Amino acid sequence: MIYLKTDEEVELMRASNILLGKTYAEVAKSIRPGVTTAELDKIAYEFICDHGGRPACLGYEGYPATLCTSVNGVVVHGIPSKECVLKEGDIISVDSSIELNGWHSDSAYTFPVGEVAPEVMQLLRTTKEALYLGIEQAVTGRRLGDVSATIQQHCERAGYGVVREFVGHGIGRHMHEDPEVCNYGRRGNGIMLKSGMTLAIEPMITLGRRQVVIEDDGWTARTVDRKPAAHYEHSVCVRNGKADILSTFEFIREVLGDRFI
Ligand code: MF3
Ligand code: CO
Repeated sequence: MIYLKTDEEVELMRASNILLGKTYAEVAKSIRPGVTTAELDKIAYEFICDHGGRPACLGYEGYPATLCTSVNGVVVHGIPSKECVLKEGDIISVDSSIELNGWHSDSAYTFPVGEVAPEVMQLLRTTKEALYLGIEQAVTGRRLGDVSATIQQHCERAGYGVVREFVGHGIGRHMHEDPEVCNYGRRGNGIMLKSGMTLAIEPMITLGRRQVVIEDDGWTARTVDRKPAAHYEHSVCVRNGKADILSTFEFIREVLGDRFI
């Protein structure tokens, strides 16, 4: 069941997503060699609570933290830990969701830690490009498969792997709603997009093989070949002519300055 949102509801979702964007900016200020992912999680938890939000991942199907912090070969759902210390040359994907006044946000961003190898920086750039190219397709008159195929094509042409086991999703009163938004598919397939549909679009792209394994903690999803993976996500509302991006990387951009890609 896909719920179309009213304009008022979309604005409530935007407010939730702006708080999430500001949370990531607070986290970004502390991303450097030597910081632990547990420290980043604490920063996010306190910022969200201080601003009237509820960290929606915490307790979701038993998930134990505010953020997912996925380092290097971890694709998604890495659990923050005191033992996980970032080092120069790492990448870290930060993914979370907030419930604010009953409405969910969802967005993800992969950060370089210090200087990162050029081939890994290119993976980050291509994944982010794929996100925006997919979002351009999230307009009335297109089908969901147009979003999926566009993301897949952009990443596979660059020689990267497109993860199949995790997908984007509808979002609203619930963190995960219908429909599933795959990062692979065929143009012209899938449901017709309608104005008021709100989607979390989130390419998860690998430098090497696309296969992933879940570690013994039941959450951490890493590449089988342990090569790096990137993850960028926006929540968007389908509109006539142009998708409305509800989440924002602008606060991250302010913190990263000329390190923003
Ligand atoms: N953006 C992530 C997703 O859509 C949020 C995961 S929260 C968790 O899957 F609790 F499931 F980890
Ligand atoms: Co999501």
